Amino acid sequence: MVQHEKIPLETLYDQASRCRGCELWQGRTNLVFGVGNPHADVLIVGEAPGEQEDLRGEPFVGRAGQLLNEMLGYAGLKREDIYIANVLKCRPPGNRNPQAPEIQACSYFLREQTRTIDPKYIVTLGNFAMKFILKTDKGITKMRGQVHQAGRFQVFPVYHPAYVLRNGSQRPVLQADFERLGQLLNG
Ligand code: URA
Repeated sequence: MVQHEKIPLETLYDQASRCRGCELWQGRTNLVFGVGNPHADVLIVGEAPGEQEDLRGEPFVGRAGQLLNEMLGYAGLKREDIYIANVLKCRPPGNRNPQAPEIQACSYFLREQTRTIDPKYIVTLGNFAMKFILKTDKGITKMRGQVHQAGRFQVFPVYHPAYVLRNGSQRPVLQADFERLGQLLNG
């Protein structure tokens, strides 16, 4: 199969800022395209921007982001080391779940971001990101904490930090998964 050239992140950002593929652009304050090291070994994929992310134009800057930062530490990672993006680049109203046509309309951007960054590991946070990347119907509880293959990428699903904020008993599970990620990266 003939592969097209990697599309620069700046070009993708520009395209995303003008995207009208679904209705979500109308309600957003800012596009939340993604941030971090464009040559990262680890790409973290969340679900969709929340209120704080929409206001700042940056993923994971609210409470879930604080927990994510702490968890990155257990893998020996800092935010500057990784790239973070979401399945959706615009905030769904009231933080409702992403809808299938929105995911479909936005899929080009995450797919091309992934090709351009070309990470070793894709760490998916929660069910939406895992299902999007792995094209599976299996639930996260069965899949988390193990490496799965998607094309040439190693995919490591973990719980979403927002879920762990609501279910504190799962915090050690998330911590153990990030420690395992650290071992994989150093192995
Ligand atoms: N939750 C997500 O999935 N993504 C963000 O950017 C913030 C919260």
